[in-house]
Amino acid sequence: MNPIQNPFSPGTGSPPHELVGREDVLQQAKILFGRIQRGRSEKSILLTGLRGVGKTVLLSEMTRLAENEGYKTIFIEAHEDKSLVALLAPQLRSLLYTLDRMEGAKATVRRGLAALKSIISSIKVTFDDIPIGLDINPEKGTADSGDLEIDLPDLLTVIAEVARERKTAIALLIDEIQYFEEKELSALIMALHRMQQKQLPLVLLGAGLPILPRLAGDSKSYAERLFSFPRIGPLATEDARRALTEPAKEEGASFEAAAVDAIIELTQGYPYFIQEWGYQAWNHAQTPPITQDDVKKATEVALQRLDENFFRVRFDRLTPSEKTFLRAMAEIGNGPYLIGDIAERLGVKVSSLSPRRAKLIHKGMIYSPSHGGLEFTVPLFDDFLRRSIPKLDK
Ligand SMILES: Nc1ncnc2c1ncn2[C@@H]1O[C@H](COP(=O)(O)OP(=O)(O)OP(=O)(O)O)[C@@H](O)[C@H]1O
Ligand SMILES: [Mg+2]
Repeated sequence: MNPIQNPFSPGTGSPPHELVGREDVLQQAKILFGRIQRGRSEKSILLTGLRGVGKTVLLSEMTRLAENEGYKTIFIEAHEDKSLVALLAPQLRSLLYTLDRMEGAKATVRRGLAALKSIISSIKVTFDDIPIGLDINPEKGTADSGDLEIDLPDLLTVIAEVARERKTAIALLIDEIQYFEEKELSALIMALHRMQQKQLPLVLLGAGLPILPRLAGDSKSYAERLFSFPRIGPLATEDARRALTEPAKEEGASFEAAAVDAIIELTQGYPYFIQEWGYQAWNHAQTPPITQDDVKKATEVALQRLDENFFRVRFDRLTPSEKTFLRAMAEIGNGPYLIGDIAERLGVKVSSLSPRRAKLIHKGMIYSPSHGGLEFTVPLFDDFLRRSIPKLDK
């Protein structure tokens, strides 16, 4: 069938033709935006889920919803090796300039810029090549303590006050939030706590791998009160069916029921995989309807493409010993994987695995769920490992 008309969009962050099965969480975001704008309190949202379930496309959709509601939005994506302030500062600066062009008193904008300048100089971020020249003096006593847990709440308070004065609100959207340091996460949480206490119009919508267990002490108990943590998982069968049939229908094509069932079984309802199989099956089929046989024939290419893109990009960032660690997990079968079992497969002591385990968590390859043990963050990664490394080589 005509590849130009192919309605499927496999790819990181590529918006699907139909964002199915996420109505509840989108509704929750709408309620949040509406309530905060009216000065009511509501929990911010932290989406958690595995790789490829659709967190980024949800955040993009939420950005659009927020803008429709008159919010000013900031979207950042965390990196393993970039600080929160380095990512936020340039965006906050342009936000302040935007607010400055709106109606209202000018004095607070200048205070916002001064607070921004303070946090930059006191935290001494390295800005790589981001030119952040702020032609303004830092404000004494605001956001200049050098302690992020004090300075970030100060800074966001000043900025949210500017927004309130301009009768608007701010939505801060952060993708891959698990990459921030514990200290940065806790500073963000403290800042949100301040917003709630002062009823300021700033909300946070985050997305990431399950990170709550990494938060400790006070910030954990704050987090539980300030955020709701919707879990974004594979699509339920009916939603997965719609994710395939609706886009096809809009292009005047269709799937045989057995073809849909086959894709659902192969993909276990994971959105990224559904897009990939839908895409390949479409290209393989001569004419509609797309049959089970088309799906079967498309499977080889779909897997090959997933291996090359979805799985391989993550795998290639690992050292040989990290790969072996993961391969030993795959050897065990299904998770949760106990560290003792992994050590046994590798014939080493449990204690010797701690550094590798920590690195793999830091790289976002595995996580430790609240019920204990370890899990892969990438769905079906164990199959991939067995495919690409047929034998565990210690
Ligand atoms: N609700 C949905 N219905 C159909 N397809 C979806 C849905 N959500 C996401 N997808 C598709 O799944 C793929 C992955 O989406 P996305 O990149 O947002 O996932 P993610 O959770 O952010 O993954 P990662 O953790 O790797 O960043 C995209 O191709 C997207 O089109
Ligand atoms: Mg993403």
